[in-house]
Amino acid sequence: MEIQGIQISELAIKYDTPFYVYNLNRMKENVSEIKRAFGADKGRCKIFYAMKANSHPVLLNIIKKFDIGIDAVSPLEVKVALNAGIAPDEILYTGNYESTEDLEYVFNNGVKINLDSTSSLDKLLQIGIPEMISFRINPGQGAGKYDHITTGGEKAKFGIPIEKALQAYERAQNAGVKKFGIHTFLGSGILDEDHFQEVVELLAEEAGEIRSKLGIKFDFFDIGGGFGINYHKENKKFDINTCAEKVYGKFDELMRKYDLGDPQLYIEPGRYIVGDTGYLVTEVTSIKDSFKKYVGINAGFNILIRPALYGAEHSIEVDGKEKMKKSEKVDICGQICENTDIFTRDRELPHIEENDLLIFKQAGAYANVMSMPYNMRMRTAEVGILDGEDKLITRAENLDDFYNRILVNEM
Ligand code: LLP
Repeated sequence: MEIQGIQISELAIKYDTPFYVYNLNRMKENVSEIKRAFGADKGRCKIFYAMKANSHPVLLNIIKKFDIGIDAVSPLEVKVALNAGIAPDEILYTGNYESTEDLEYVFNNGVKINLDSTSSLDKLLQIGIPEMISFRINPGQGAGKYDHITTGGEKAKFGIPIEKALQAYERAQNAGVKKFGIHTFLGSGILDEDHFQEVVELLAEEAGEIRSKLGIKFDFFDIGGGFGINYHKENKKFDINTCAEKVYGKFDELMRKYDLGDPQLYIEPGRYIVGDTGYLVTEVTSIKDSFKKYVGINAGFNILIRPALYGAEHSIEVDGKEKMKKSEKVDICGQICENTDIFTRDRELPHIEENDLLIFKQAGAYANVMSMPYNMRMRTAEVGILDGEDKLITRAENLDDFYNRILVNEM
């Protein structure tokens, strides 16, 4: 397999496996595509890249050049975005269950604030009165590829229940806040284009009520992220252009219907921008002929947790054997001492031997950022490829990193 003419097998010699590699030109294409689809250059829509998907500074620098904003979830995400040179008013902070200190940090840095609860509003108003406030509304229903990544509905920890939204805006208005946004995000990894116009519908009705009862004119209308990509065996591909057309169809109609004026549409894609840019390159360390064939690789759920956490499936290539017949069914597992450390079961693949390179695709989003050094298996290196040139952009974690944080060895 190759990326921009660079053989993965060569990268595996140059940088020890396992490592993540990102096709940064692909990321640029993704950003351009979503900007074009939503007319972001014409100012109809503002895009905020959800940096939780992948917060590497190299990626944030690409984002900055494309003149799009950042969706940040924590003070340190805000800090890393600011360090990358993103302007404060290009950062939209949506936290959850935050502390007063968290809110102080984001308020003092002048970023846009979207609140997930009225208790956060109380905390914020103690700190100061922001010029603008937005609230994340939970309309009582959600979506999402897996239950675990469904962020709306009664079982979700996110957002202000829709029946309490009016009250929240009223309190903010009475406290002297002058400008408002409205936000929701119902779930991630969605391949149904219609979902996003339904989100517009759910939010517009509530916005209309707030508009009519409180006279609030919304500056922006944020439908969150959630734009899905294909991982493995999905039977349809998500079409961002169709999605945008449908969203605008509803948006234009409902802004008129509910007398909402001309707010800017905000979207917060994470996965769509970086998901298919990343590959996790691993090596087969051991094959066990057990009750079935277990293929063991030198990365576990500590490096890529999505399969263990959500039952997610990534497509997998055996380097150099892409065109060979898928002649066997195998379970692929890592080296972590847990039985959830299985990436896939009964996957049909070409005959696999020790030292083969196994490449997990669509590993650009929620992959390296969710890794951890469990079992003292350390986090991996990251490689970026831009314009046909590869560079080590993060070194692998090592034992010194572990000991650097240890203050006491014996008590
Ligand atoms: N906006 C907010 C407020 C979010 O919480 C998220 C993701 C996004 C935007 C971006 O969503 P996206 O466009 O990437 O779907 N770790 C899971 C996904 C969790 C999503 C969390 N929030 C996974 O690996 O599938």
